[in-house]
Amino acid sequence: MAKTLKIGIIGCGAIAEHLHVPEYKACPQAKLVAFCDIISAKAKALAARFAPDAKVYTDYKAMLKDADLDAVSVCMPNYLHGPVSIDAANSGRHVFVEKPMATSLAEAKKMIAAAKKNGVTLMVDQSQRLFPVHVKAKEVLDSGIMGKVLHLTAMFGHSGPENWSPTGKWFFKKKEARFGAMADLGVHKADLIRHLTGKEVKQVTAIYDTLEKKRTDVEDNFASTLIFDDGTMGSLAASWTVKGLEANYMYLHCTNGTLQISVNPEKPLVAALVNPECQIAFDIPKPPTNEEGGWGLDVAGAFVRAALGLEKPFCPGEEGMKSLAVILACEEAAQTGRVVKVKA
Ligand SMILES: NC(=O)c1ccc[n+]([C@@H]2O[C@H](COP(=O)([O-])OP(=O)(O)OC[C@H]3O[C@@H](n4cnc5c(N)ncnc54)[C@H](O)[C@@H]3O)[C@@H](O)[C@H]2O)c1
Repeated sequence: MAKTLKIGIIGCGAIAEHLHVPEYKACPQAKLVAFCDIISAKAKALAARFAPDAKVYTDYKAMLKDADLDAVSVCMPNYLHGPVSIDAANSGRHVFVEKPMATSLAEAKKMIAAAKKNGVTLMVDQSQRLFPVHVKAKEVLDSGIMGKVLHLTAMFGHSGPENWSPTGKWFFKKKEARFGAMADLGVHKADLIRHLTGKEVKQVTAIYDTLEKKRTDVEDNFASTLIFDDGTMGSLAASWTVKGLEANYMYLHCTNGTLQISVNPEKPLVAALVNPECQIAFDIPKPPTNEEGGWGLDVAGAFVRAALGLEKPFCPGEEGMKSLAVILACEEAAQTGRVVKVKA
């Protein structure tokens, strides 16, 4: 088996620049060999900064045909995740696809089937699984000290994708984004809830609306209630109109106390226990900022090691699909006003 994977980047926008490319560059088992973007200048600029010898393309199909590649990152608008991942898998390349992995369950299933048929790894970048605070939170929950989770609250909100990706107008177009804040941010927490608790959401109610953003046909605010397979209750919300402070937090209220995640930046993880009464504030390293060069998560490195068979994928296609299914159930619930069963 190859010791180094030759990597192609498809879509050279914000997430490629801030996460995928710097992380591949830092990964000893990865070599960046090709960059593709319909805007040639973006692919050229990224290649010039990180891998000047790499080839540059404007057509991903030409890149899959022409370039000597083992794996690709799919960092494109949401509606392209499915078709491009399927083409890449059918060309025999491992695929690391951005979230939400697809725009429907049928599409997600086809992606999983294409990867299986071609014997390649399909991983979804549910990057929150690897945030140091979430890795520690999982360790705490798995240790059993919190007891059983009975109720949880998860929220992800910021001021909107226009403040993240200067060229990402597609985020506001339903045809290309398929969802607004509900999936853009909500799918991160839908996935994290499942990952941290090990429980599946059974059914949901939800509401969404566009409260502030102009010239868009997707929602900028979303809230839902969740019932899990064991009766645990919770709420999940997302917003593109959060100002002043980012909201990217979770509370897990358990039989032995409360686990508070990323509420207070000074104390990112606090376990408040009742017996004996105490508060444990865990020491979590602060992730670097975009300006410092990447988020320090090593999601791309983890993908490379998974594709090489060195470790388990942190979010295989099947997991990405289950998290997407929670969001799709929420969408149906918001549209019908009914309680909807999660279908994946
Ligand atoms: N995991 C995370 O934490 C995280 C964070 C932000 C964004 N994302 C996801 O990453 C994806 C990309 O988001 P972004 O913020 O980088 O958007 P972006 O608009 O900054 O980048 C997308 C790039 O794709 C290119 N593109 C569009 N159509 C193309 C085509 N047919 N062929 C080649 N290139 C094409 C665009 O020109 C653009 O450069 C989205 O799905 C988004 O949800 C994930």
